[in-house]
Amino acid sequence: MTQMRVLLTGATGFIGSHTWLNLLACGFQVVGVDDFSNSSPAVLDRLHQLAGTEPAFIRADVCDASAMAAVFSRERFDAVIHFAALKAVGESTEKPLAYYANNIGGLLTLTQAMAGHECKTLVFSSSATVYGKPESLPIREDAALSSTNPYGATKLMGETILRDLGHADAGWAVALLRYFNPVGAHESGLIGEDPRGTPNNLMPFVAQVAAGKRERLKVFGHDYATPDGTGVRDYIHVLDLAAGHVDALNYLLDTRQSITANLGTGRGHSVLDVVHAFERASGTSVPCDFVARRPGDVDASYADVTLANTVLGWEATRDLDTMCADSWRWQRMNPNGLAG
Ligand code: UFG
Repeated sequence: MTQMRVLLTGATGFIGSHTWLNLLACGFQVVGVDDFSNSSPAVLDRLHQLAGTEPAFIRADVCDASAMAAVFSRERFDAVIHFAALKAVGESTEKPLAYYANNIGGLLTLTQAMAGHECKTLVFSSSATVYGKPESLPIREDAALSSTNPYGATKLMGETILRDLGHADAGWAVALLRYFNPVGAHESGLIGEDPRGTPNNLMPFVAQVAAGKRERLKVFGHDYATPDGTGVRDYIHVLDLAAGHVDALNYLLDTRQSITANLGTGRGHSVLDVVHAFERASGTSVPCDFVARRPGDVDASYADVTLANTVLGWEATRDLDTMCADSWRWQRMNPNGLAG
């Protein structure tokens, strides 16, 4: 069988880099694209080390239409996995135009270049943020959709654009993958989440407290309607998430049917569950202060994963202890991230 050729945008980012490795392991030919606006070129050396071959890479911004046209003119692709996007909820409320320009502009530029070269198979990075404040738990794919910030609005709009594209042209096969809370790192400790500045998300912040880089964790809210009063989320190991992308891609290539699927574990863990699991994994303590709720946060969010289990044949296999152990290994081996 001829090898399938896949273009990855946002390829050197957290989820992109782990998915890249998994695609190579599954026999795909991969070309990565990134502009390093939120990642480091050092990821390419790490991927080289892990995969044993030099990764094929083009430095480009997905919003640059001529650069994207050049990528598709140079070689043929069977499919694209589109990760490249801005992703910080708080920042999106301060810089809405940057979020709309990047996340919507980039998606339009990319899909126009794809359509121009008869490449109509796409896996899109969506997010559980499209469920807004969920009405019931676990969250199924047919739950009501809404957005509470510009970042969420770009994911919701991205989904709408791709659904409309599928209605207009049945030649498109698109997977909308709604990620819950991706954490962890590759078990080698060579690639992982490398946030710039103060981490926005819980797990990288906890890792930096455990490492002594930050003094204390602020627990946002302890009066939520959850067993211990702290927010509950569906944390999913990035390697399980990466495997979900490969399964979704294979599904599109095999069936030519579009799909919208949650990728989570189906289990919820509180902030304090994460803190305690991290303390066990690291053998250190993670001092906490309870502070006010963070605006926009919901009590609890976790996925119904029946659809991905049954239709894609995919299931998350790694538990919270593994997520913390892998995140800790990455933190210890790269105390200043990849840029440092
Ligand atoms: N939290 C703290 N202290 C911190 C950071 C987070 O207590 O310093 C708490 C939050 O209040 C929440 C939980 O830890 O209860 C998880 O927070 P994250 O910021 O790690 O993740 P979110 O669930 O808020 O956001 C994630 C992604 C978003 C996505 C959203 C919904 O980061 O991109 O899930 O799917 F929009």
